[in-house]
Amino acid sequence: MRGVKIVGTGSALPSRVVTNDDMAQMVDTSDEWISTRTGIRSRRWCAAGESQYTLARDAAKRALDAAGVAPDEVGVCLVATFTASAATPSAACLIQRDLGLAEDTFCLDVNAACAGFVYALAVAESLLARGGKPCALVVGAEELSRVMDMADRTTCVLFGDGAGACVLKAAEGYPALHAVWGSRGNGEALAAPGVNAARDEADAVCPSYLTMDGRAVFRFATEVLPRCCAEVLERAGVSASDVDRYVFHQANKRIVDVAVRKLGLDPAKCAGNIDRTGNTSAASVPILLDELVREGALGSGDRVVLAGFGAGLTWAGCLAELA
Ligand code: UT7
Repeated sequence: MRGVKIVGTGSALPSRVVTNDDMAQMVDTSDEWISTRTGIRSRRWCAAGESQYTLARDAAKRALDAAGVAPDEVGVCLVATFTASAATPSAACLIQRDLGLAEDTFCLDVNAACAGFVYALAVAESLLARGGKPCALVVGAEELSRVMDMADRTTCVLFGDGAGACVLKAAEGYPALHAVWGSRGNGEALAAPGVNAARDEADAVCPSYLTMDGRAVFRFATEVLPRCCAEVLERAGVSASDVDRYVFHQANKRIVDVAVRKLGLDPAKCAGNIDRTGNTSAASVPILLDELVREGALGSGDRVVLAGFGAGLTWAGCLAELA
């Protein structure tokens, strides 16, 4: 069976930098509360002319350029998101048009919230295993500033906008992703508006803004993140020290610290970027992956565990190798 490697990465962050002091002008909060509880110091929000879609497209283009892959080598284009600029056409279809991908490309938006990028990698791996064109473009992109209640200090200080992407290439002899995943349907712990939320508030399943029971999600995250990473290592038959980097969803530095402790990982292999990005949901794993590649912390032959968790509730993890 054909396995996969990551052959290129890219990311795009919006231009508007919002610091914790800026947040304290908007709601009753402080830099001290936000940074000690979460590790966040600033986040990026879309400004005029920027959107979930423009970020997704720009990250995808950068990943394709970094990979040196021609558009007609791409047979699969997936965008993980729960804040798509439009319900349809999908962001994946618009990327097909704007990046000149062939018309026989499998284009699909995937919603598994903060676990979405890793879910999309697993979908891409399965599709590439069928044969055909060797490459998949996999994007995670969010504009969470569109669904946040800017008067709710318990959520609005946490989230940011952004996009990240990678190109997977399939070949005989390449490794499997050894992906694991899970779902636990729950609308109380974390929810965000659907397309009919504004039309009929009374019947709508989702609220008008993102809502979260932070403590419940924290407990969930610290349960599933270490467990799913341990399952990936077991499936792949590698020990924790064989892995060069751990790229965890950036929801809260304290969640990563718990996973590091439970799994006995080297903290230097688990460095994050939440201080500069906030929680960008499906985009956080590929943004951090791209930053590590561009700063030279990850290179050819390195192996990286990617893991996400969040609304749904959902979680997923995998082990990927860089070509
Ligand atoms: O992307 C995946 C999904 N998201 C997550 O994984 C997030 C998981 N949860 C968390 O990261 C944390 O639970 C939070 C960062 C959301 C909250 O941290 P916490 O340590 O669990 O705080 P808390 O919710 O227990 O609130 C503690 C206090 C409360 O005041 P009282 O009731 O103790 O008087 C809150 O009202 O902090 C208060 N508070 C704030 N104070 C200042 C809540 N938000 C703020 C704020 N500024 N922004």
